[in-house]
Amino acid sequence: MRHYLSIYLLILFAFSCKEIKKEKTSSANNRGLVTSNAMVVSAREEASKIGVEILKKGGNAFDAMMATEMALAVTYPYAGNLGGGGFLIYRLADGEVGALDYREKAPLAATKDMFLDEDQNVIKGKSTQGALAIGIPGTIAGIFKAQERFGKLDINSILQPVVDLAKNGFTITESQAKRFKKYDSIFKVVNGNKLVFNNELKSGDKIVNFALAQTLERIIAKGRDEFYKGETSKLLLKHLQGIGSIITAEDLAKYEAKWRKPIRFEYDDLVITSMSPPSSGGICLNQIMTMIEDFDLKDYGHNSLKTIQVLVEAEKRAYADRSYYLGDPDFVDIPVKTLTSDVYLQNRIQDFSFKQATAVDSLSHGEIVGYESEETTHYSIVDQFGNAIAVTTTLNGAYGSKVYVEELGFFMNNEMDDFSSKPGEPNYYGLIGAEANSIAPEKRMLSSMTPTIVEKDGELYMTLGTPGGSTIITSVLQTILNVHEFDMSMQQAVNSPRFHNQWLPDEIRMEPNSFDVSLKQQLEEKGYIINEKRTPVIGKVDGILILENGQLEGGADKRGDDTAVGF
Ligand code: GLY
Repeated sequence: MRHYLSIYLLILFAFSCKEIKKEKTSSANNRGLVTSNAMVVSAREEASKIGVEILKKGGNAFDAMMATEMALAVTYPYAGNLGGGGFLIYRLADGEVGALDYREKAPLAATKDMFLDEDQNVIKGKSTQGALAIGIPGTIAGIFKAQERFGKLDINSILQPVVDLAKNGFTITESQAKRFKKYDSIFKVVNGNKLVFNNELKSGDKIVNFALAQTLERIIAKGRDEFYKGETSKLLLKHLQGIGSIITAEDLAKYEAKWRKPIRFEYDDLVITSMSPPSSGGICLNQIMTMIEDFDLKDYGHNSLKTIQVLVEAEKRAYADRSYYLGDPDFVDIPVKTLTSDVYLQNRIQDFSFKQATAVDSLSHGEIVGYESEETTHYSIVDQFGNAIAVTTTLNGAYGSKVYVEELGFFMNNEMDDFSSKPGEPNYYGLIGAEANSIAPEKRMLSSMTPTIVEKDGELYMTLGTPGGSTIITSVLQTILNVHEFDMSMQQAVNSPRFHNQWLPDEIRMEPNSFDVSLKQQLEEKGYIINEKRTPVIGKVDGILILENGQLEGGADKRGDDTAVGF
């Protein structure tokens, strides 16, 4: 009997090995770019190439960060920026992890009701477009703070290739030409003149940006303070004050990027490091992943009915907490320990049943999380020394406030709209927030950006992130699960169709034509509302996976012009 059992187990083992091998081969066949030493994945090929050029010169991930971020400002003005802000998560080769917050701040003259009329109603468009929508930019402070602490090269070697790119020009892609057309009339309304980015540009045309090249040359010569206290700040203030901005020289001079303690948690055998407040990304990701950990997603299958239900129900509960509790940690006390504790989260998910959707109004706490803009950008870098970074940066809306500072060659953010203009009531985008995220002088507005680094067995495993407003968190979640639970390659994980739930509005957003009709019917029978129209594209994830043999695999999202470059 024992003999037969051994033979049976042997056959079973051989069969399962074959299955694993088949799975691995299928992942292997669908891999993105694989390289042995280093890689940069970003929204534009030119930016990824410049990042790699810096690494090849002997620079590290933090040098490459500075170059890539500025190259995105040149080639991807939609979200790449000097006039915005962002977040960095890093993991050094020795395992040290950290986070840098270079989020924009409200000006000193900002007030809680600055976007309300005399009847206390939100004034449409005031927080999204034009002078008052602009927060104090943090990008130059951020890239200098990271590079000064960890970088190896001098600023000139890092930024000169970007200056050359701005002077020599970059080629417009098809999607870019479409966007310039789409926003042309609003650019003219806001700026009063035709911009270098306009509706006459076609795919394949070149754009040069001498003003931005000169701005960068001054920054190379004078350093970080050139932007906040030097000639550039004076030109910026002259432009901004000319259009009615409340930003002052004191605002710029006082801006500082801040090192933060990242959110760090375990999921199975993974350790995940992600962004802490003022981003909600890390806390929400932690909450969702802790709530789903005990469910056997691998067994349920990728994008199956049960997997979608589990993820959606955990997302609902995390997003219900999000806007009630979260804001700038320098201004509000956030109960991070409780929000991310196993006891709290097990209790939060315990009423979930596979039989039917949990009614949204039965979930306590949290104010409605509405729509956030989706025009942000993310890049991931692993260098030849073993350092990894994940950086998400933004102007908020497409081209931010649409205010273009012609003398300096860049757009300004409209990040003030990420505050709750009027706690408890929807703003222009339907966003309702709570007191924790109300406007105050020098406060940072709540974000969803989720730059994330994953470790496995104590080693670097993945670096990733995405644009997508409130869908950022769930896109990062699904990409990690696609690799970890469903054995996908990085590129497959990034390409896979995504869905999203944020408690309210009460709907599962799905990428259109990507999910089976019968699956959608089954979800509807259980009480879920499907919306395939709201968000045609959910996230644009750019990530890097460390393969078992130590090589790097890039996942560059096919939804955009995103490109992995490495060596
Ligand atoms: N502005 C988008 C975000 O910070 O989440």
